[in-house]
Amino acid sequence: MIFTLNPKTLFLNYRPEIIEAIEKVIDSGVYLMGEELAGFEKEFAGFLGVKSVIGVGSGTDAITLSLKALGIQSHEDVIVPANAYPTVFGVAASRAHARLCDVEEDTLSVSVRTIEPVLTTKTRAIVVVHLYGMPVVMDEIISLAKRLNICVIEDCAQAVGAKIGNRYVGTFGDIACFSFYPTKNLSTMGDGGAVATNNVQIADRIRRLRMYGEDVRYHSLEPSTHSRLEEIQAAILRIKLLNLKDDLKERQAMGGKYRMVLNSVNLIPDILPKNITHGYHLFVVKSQNRDRLKEKLEAAGFMSLIHYPQPIHFQPAFQRIGNVTYTTRHFPVSENASRQILSLPFYPGLPIESQEKILETVNLWI
Ligand SMILES: Cc1ncc(COP(=O)(O)O)c(C=O)c1O
Repeated sequence: MIFTLNPKTLFLNYRPEIIEAIEKVIDSGVYLMGEELAGFEKEFAGFLGVKSVIGVGSGTDAITLSLKALGIQSHEDVIVPANAYPTVFGVAASRAHARLCDVEEDTLSVSVRTIEPVLTTKTRAIVVVHLYGMPVVMDEIISLAKRLNICVIEDCAQAVGAKIGNRYVGTFGDIACFSFYPTKNLSTMGDGGAVATNNVQIADRIRRLRMYGEDVRYHSLEPSTHSRLEEIQAAILRIKLLNLKDDLKERQAMGGKYRMVLNSVNLIPDILPKNITHGYHLFVVKSQNRDRLKEKLEAAGFMSLIHYPQPIHFQPAFQRIGNVTYTTRHFPVSENASRQILSLPFYPGLPIESQEKILETVNLWI
């Protein structure tokens, strides 16, 4: 038998509460834009410590609607890290111009150093991706953005619960995007996403953009799609949110153990800065012999994954200028990383014996 993350594992513990919540929604007759959504938005805003949370249909929609709400036009540039495969789709759908940049070798995240070479007079925003749950250090990026008068969007799809100091990621930029895809740290049983912001005007505009551009029902101020977090998904998220802190503690204990047992040169970053709380969505190692390590893990009964096998500029979808442009078509750190990274089996509820077998196999073959 091969051990792999079956999303069911992340829901089974809450089965009775989830069934009760779904029945309540069925009986209410309100399936969209009802009190479960309002309740979740208020509770998640309270958890993060932001003024507004707006539920939307997915993390991808959260990114697309955020760029639209910030008023970014199709001829303007939005900087996206070249290794953030899922992020670029939300940018492309907004019709803004995704402009790739490379990432730092030790963190696989953007920094002022990797952003600066791709800045142009058309740059209007940077999407900072807290990849794998590891917070990107924000102060220098925020100072740069302020100086250039550009917006910062935090992609927190993989990083709910990660902190810098005592602030959660998603509270540093102008706007933050979350995904509740079934395997995420805060997840639901289908698609779901949210936008978080302290800016009241932006929040109002996102609320309109998720619903045909309407300020009141059947009165639209601007053309838009609809993208709604369904009542059943919001009800499930409310249950999961109550337990998020405990889930995160388990992820952090497991992450700490993996870090202690594995050689630090293979970790991202080698050493965790003291003021950082990792969200541990994924536990990613680097190996020159990645494919062999993957095979050895599989032979021992464990499925590992690659996030992501190719950087964005190698994807056929993003070859054409007009979708994504490149200062150069070469982002060496992202390219090398895609050949070396491996996401180890890692999720709450993974049995201790399995964790030990995984770590033993990795130490032997990395
Ligand atoms: C970093 C990142 N950004 C954006 C997304 C998109 O989220 P969704 O799948 O909810 O559209 C994901 C999810 O895979 C992600 O991991």
